Amino acid sequence: MALCTIFINGGPPSRAKSKIMNVVSTAPIGIIVAMHEELAVVLSELQHAETIERAGLQLHRGQYHGKDVIAVICGVGKVHAALCTQLLISEFAVRQVINLGIAGGIGPGIQPGDVVIADTLVQHDMDVTPLGLKPGQIFRLDTFDFSCDPTLLDAAQHAAQQLASHRSYVGRIVSGDQFIADPAKSRWLHEEFDALACEMESASIAQVCYLNHVPFVCIRSISDNANEGAHMDFDEFMPIAVANASTLLQHLVPAC
Ligand code: ADE
Repeated sequence: MALCTIFINGGPPSRAKSKIMNVVSTAPIGIIVAMHEELAVVLSELQHAETIERAGLQLHRGQYHGKDVIAVICGVGKVHAALCTQLLISEFAVRQVINLGIAGGIGPGIQPGDVVIADTLVQHDMDVTPLGLKPGQIFRLDTFDFSCDPTLLDAAQHAAQQLASHRSYVGRIVSGDQFIADPAKSRWLHEEFDALACEMESASIAQVCYLNHVPFVCIRSISDNANEGAHMDFDEFMPIAVANASTLLQHLVPAC
């Protein structure tokens, strides 16, 4: 639960004619995960759970470590991710969105198992360069990148410090509707966008949150290095991703 300020008589008002009330908000936290194994981490500790189906998605609502949450696997790619995020916001009025998943590591020294927390996100496959825009810039949008909420980012960094056996980094994550398994492309993503990791959803989740003024944070466990070997061994990596997700959520959600 969280305290929020409600402006009576419309807002933001002049102090003279407004009453300000502090009320307890029970709006849920949206948790978007990539894989059912990561969802299982939430479901195993979800109390008073109910499952709701919308647009082919299964949304699991309940209490997780004392907070109202809705957890969902959005599916792969930016369209799935955007649809899921807008659904969480419009229909379930989530007050924050947390995105957890896996990513290809493209920053120097980043290894499978490490964690990258996004400070900013860009859609690397957005290409309006023939009209003079730089790669990633969305036509007629007032921002190039999407920032994670500073308070959630701090809480995520704190949660990541609990991951005893892996390093964590903070930096840009780029998303596109492409699985990157090419060293040249991965180098370009790092050089062009100064990105540390690439995946296929979070920048579109960030865009939807930006347009709706909903705080957002993204944390990704590195599963591969986006090169020839990126056809990762899911079985080998899965326990690491699941352990990371479990630790991160247990420490992050209570702080939200
Ligand atoms: N998710 C995990 N690894 C990825 C990669 N190499 N490219 C895109 N998305 C990913």
